[in-house]
Amino acid sequence: MDDAIVHTSRLRKQFGEVAALTGLDLMVPSNIIYGLLGPKGAGKSTAVQILSTLTKPTGGRAVVAGFDVARYPEEVRKMIGIAGQDASLDDRLTARENLRIFGRRSRLGTRGARRRADELLERFDLAQAGDRPVGGYPGGRRRLVHLLASLLPGPAVLLLDEPTKGLDVRSRRAIWASVRQLVADGTTVLLATQYLDEVDQLASAVGVIDHGNLIAEGGPAQLKSQIGRHIDVVVEAAEHLPCAMALLERITGRCPEADGLHIVVAAVDAVPTVPQIVRELDASGAVIRTIGIREPSLDDVVLSLTGKNAPPAEPVGCVAGGTGARFPAQEGH
Ligand SMILES: Nc1ncnc2c1ncn2[C@@H]1O[C@H](COP(=O)(O)OP(=O)(O)O)[C@@H](O)[C@H]1O
Ligand SMILES: [Mg+2]
Repeated sequence: MDDAIVHTSRLRKQFGEVAALTGLDLMVPSNIIYGLLGPKGAGKSTAVQILSTLTKPTGGRAVVAGFDVARYPEEVRKMIGIAGQDASLDDRLTARENLRIFGRRSRLGTRGARRRADELLERFDLAQAGDRPVGGYPGGRRRLVHLLASLLPGPAVLLLDEPTKGLDVRSRRAIWASVRQLVADGTTVLLATQYLDEVDQLASAVGVIDHGNLIAEGGPAQLKSQIGRHIDVVVEAAEHLPCAMALLERITGRCPEADGLHIVVAAVDAVPTVPQIVRELDASGAVIRTIGIREPSLDDVVLSLTGKNAPPAEPVGCVAGGTGARFPAQEGH
């Protein structure tokens, strides 16, 4: 596709016995934030590493800004910024000094690196803090400096691999604001993450990846609309659960999921269904505390696509409630 700035076709990567990518087809248009969403082990980092020329594909093709990553890695490197999960900063030096060093490494030259570091610190409100040693920085600000390091060359494409992993909610918001600003400036961002709320907040297009392959694609709203609304029922006591579950399954024709006293079920015609549920639950003697209808979250979308269990609560306490969801941890496949 001509207007795709990042494009992969049947991309494969084998690590010995492990197939990390099994024929990934990606099409990322220019000047958007594209969310590459998937559980741990899905192949997100492998895809980012191939696109950033750090790993070679075993098969298929990847093209960034018109350059094939396998044939023209040098050209690709000139077009991209990469902010991985663990870029290294020198704790004893200030952010400004660190950025100047990164800038010189990315061949900006001494004066160019100096100018660009100052510009970025100013732009992202770090002009003052930028003159303190990064060793004393809180985690969020540190991550922001990593992000700025990846922006030194003014990349056309920025590849972000879980940029807010482990950060608190304020720091995450600061990073999100910076990423949005970049897109306003014309950069294309490929954002690999397992945080559904991050994609919901930032991305205008989403690719859901599992077992090294794309399993769904679309805008966040489009993906959600595919699975219908959700009915939430909270029963008064555990003894009412079996009866309420059976009744919800019969009325909606879908399989409800229970978590404690809370039951969730997808329903195509949620609005007319609710009064019927209330009437029948009442007649059956099951006592309900609350009942409501809500739009599905991206979490619900992925659950319905992959059939995986409900994710655990966000471990770093980022966002409470349904929007803080992430994928369940999955090892080794
Ligand atoms: N260097 C490696 N050697 C062997 N297996 C790897 C290597 N890197 C990744 N894998 C495996 O490839 C799969 C995809 O990993 P990865 O791309 O890191 O997924 P994600 O970033 O989505 O969590 C996993 O099964 C992982 O264990
Ligand atoms: Mg990863």
